[in-house]
Amino acid sequence: NRPLTKRICCIGAGYVGGPTCAVIAQQNPHIEVTVVDLDEVRIAQWRSSNLPIFEPGLSAIVEVTRDGTDGRQPNLFFSTAISAAIQQADIIFIAVNTPTKRMGVGAGSASDLGYVESAARMIANAAPADKIIVEKSTVPCGTAERLRSIFASLAPARSFSILSNPEFLAEGTAIKDLLNPDRVLIGSLKDDRSMSAARELASVYSWVPHDRVVHTNLYSSELAKLAANCLLAQRISSINSLSAICEATGADISEVANAVSLDQRIGRHMLKASAGFGGSCFKKDVLSLVYIAESLHLYDVANYWRAVNSINEHQKSRFTSRVISALHGTLLRKKITIFGWAYKKNTGDTRESASISVAAQLLAEGCELAVYDPQVSTNAQQIYRDLEDIGTNIRERVRVWDNAVDACVDACAVLILTEWDHFKTDMLADTSTLPENCTAASSDSGIDMLDDGLDLPTAKSVVHDAFNKSDRVDWCAIASVVQRPRLVFDGRGVVDPVALGALGFRVESIGKASVT
Ligand code: UDX
Ligand code: UDX
Ligand code: ADP
Repeated sequence: NRPLTKRICCIGAGYVGGPTCAVIAQQNPHIEVTVVDLDEVRIAQWRSSNLPIFEPGLSAIVEVTRDGTDGRQPNLFFSTAISAAIQQADIIFIAVNTPTKRMGVGAGSASDLGYVESAARMIANAAPADKIIVEKSTVPCGTAERLRSIFASLAPARSFSILSNPEFLAEGTAIKDLLNPDRVLIGSLKDDRSMSAARELASVYSWVPHDRVVHTNLYSSELAKLAANCLLAQRISSINSLSAICEATGADISEVANAVSLDQRIGRHMLKASAGFGGSCFKKDVLSLVYIAESLHLYDVANYWRAVNSINEHQKSRFTSRVISALHGTLLRKKITIFGWAYKKNTGDTRESASISVAAQLLAEGCELAVYDPQVSTNAQQIYRDLEDIGTNIRERVRVWDNAVDACVDACAVLILTEWDHFKTDMLADTSTLPENCTAASSDSGIDMLDDGLDLPTAKSVVHDAFNKSDRVDWCAIASVVQRPRLVFDGRGVVDPVALGALGFRVESIGKASVT
C-alpha cells in the first residue's frame, strides 16, 4: 500500500515543520520531502551539523534522511527556493508561524494570519496545477475557508484541495510524539475530491495505526487543535491556582495532584504545579479562542478562557513576590541566580518562558541576575534578546553562565524555573551503560520510549540527546558558594527539600507552605 505521493513541500522550517518533515522522510523513504523557508540563516543551519533547534533524537534522523549516512538515498531537503519546491510538490504543508496580532483589529488577542496568507499567495503564484494544501500551523476556525477564497481569487482555474492537519507535538518530546502520536487529525470537506485528498494525506502517516487517524470536518479539526491546547493550559492553571491555596495552608500540591489524578476521569497528565506555563502555543492559543468567542459575542465564554492566562500571569508574579518577600522586601545590590531559561526541559526554545517574566520583575526591583540553563546558556544572545524590552543596562545586570556553580557565587537565592533533570537531587544515572541499558536510562529521563514503540536506534538517540544535557548540578559545591541562608526557590518541584536541607539549604517549593 505505497502512497501515491512522491513529493511533499513544507513551507516553514521551524519547530513544527522541521521535526515533522524529518520523521515523515524517515518513515517514507519513497517520498521526497523539501522544507522551505524565507529565512536563509535558518535553512543554512538545517543544512549544517548545527541544527537551528535542539530536540532529542532529531539530529540522528536528519543525518540519515538528509545525508543518507546509513546508505539510504537522501530524501529530506532544505531550501530557500520556495517556488521551485511548490511547483514540484504533490502535497504542500503550511507550517509557518501564527503569532498573536500586534496591531489593528484584535491586537493582543487574535492570531496573525499574515504568514499563512503570504504562504498561500506563494502557492497560488507558483503552483502550476491542482495540489493538496495542508494547514499544519495552529489557526483560528475558518482559516481553511479563507485559504479557499484566496485560491479562488488568485488561481481560479485550479482547484486546490485544502485539508486541516494540525500538529500536536510538544517540544522536547517531538520525535517521540511524532513517531507515536495519540492521534493524527485530518479535517476536510466531504466531497469526493476532498475525501480522496484526505486519504492521500493519511497514507503519508504510514507508521500510525489506522484507528489513530481521525477524520473530521474542517471546522472541527481547526477548533479541536485550539481546544486541545486550551484544555491543557487550563489544567495547568487549575493546578497552579490550587498551589496558591496550598502555600497559604498546610496542603501540599504534589499530594493533592497525586490524589486527584488517581481518579481515572481526571488522570495524571498536565497537573504539575509550576511557576507558570510558557511556550509559543498555550498563551497564544488561549488568546485566539478568547478572540473567537468575543467575535461571536460569547462574552462569558471569552471570560472563562481569559482566566486561564490571567492565572498564569498571577502565578509568575506570585512566585516572584515570594522571592522578594523572603529577601526582606528589597533586592537592591543583591544577586539572584536563575536555573533554567528554556520554557520547559529538553528544548532550547525560550518563547514565553516563565523565566523571562520572573527575571523582568526581579530586575525591576534593582537586583543583578545570573542565569544558567543547560541548553540556552550556549546562546547568551537569546537571553539578552528576550530581555530587550526591559530597557538599559541589561548586559551589565544579567550575566549568563555555562556552569551552574559559577553562576551561584554570592547569590542570595537560586530560583529553579525549568524542570531540567540537570537540577534534580537524585543520583546521577550511569550514562556510560546507555547503549546496552537504554530502557533504564530512558525511564530515568522520563521518556519511556521503548514502551512507546520506538525502534531501538531511535530510542537510544532520543535518550542520548536528552541525557547529554542532564548531568546533575553539584549542589554540594553550590552550598559552599551561595550566601546564607542558602535559599532555593523551586518553581518546578524538581528538588527534594529534605536532601537539599541536609546540605544547609532552605527550599521554598511551589505549592508547599514556606519553611519557617
Ligand atoms: C460527582 C462526582 O463524579 C463524584 O466523584 C463525587 O463523589 C460527587 O460528585 P455526581 O454529581 O453524582 O458525582 O455525578 P457526575 O457523574 O459527576 O455528574 C454530575 C453532573 O455533571 C451531572 O448532571 C451530569 O449529567 C453532568 N455531566 C457529567 C456532564 O454534563 N458531562 C459529563 O461529561 C459528565
Ligand atoms: C503544547 C502541547 O502540549 C502540544 O500538544 C501542542 O502541539 C503545542 O503546545 P509545548 O508547549 O511544546 O506543547 O509543551 P508542554 O509540554 O505542553 O508544556 C507547555 C508549558 O507548560 C511548559 O512551560 C511546561 O513547563 C508547562 N507545564 C506542563 C506545567 O507547568 N505543568 C505541567 O503539568 C505540564
Ligand atoms: P513553529 O513553532 O510554529 O514551527 P517557527 O517560528 O519556529 O514556528 O517557524 C515558522 C517558520 O516559518 C519561520 O522559520 C519563518 O521564517 C517561516 N515562514 C513564515 N512565513 C513564511 C513564508 N511565507 N514562506 C516561507 N517561510 C515562512
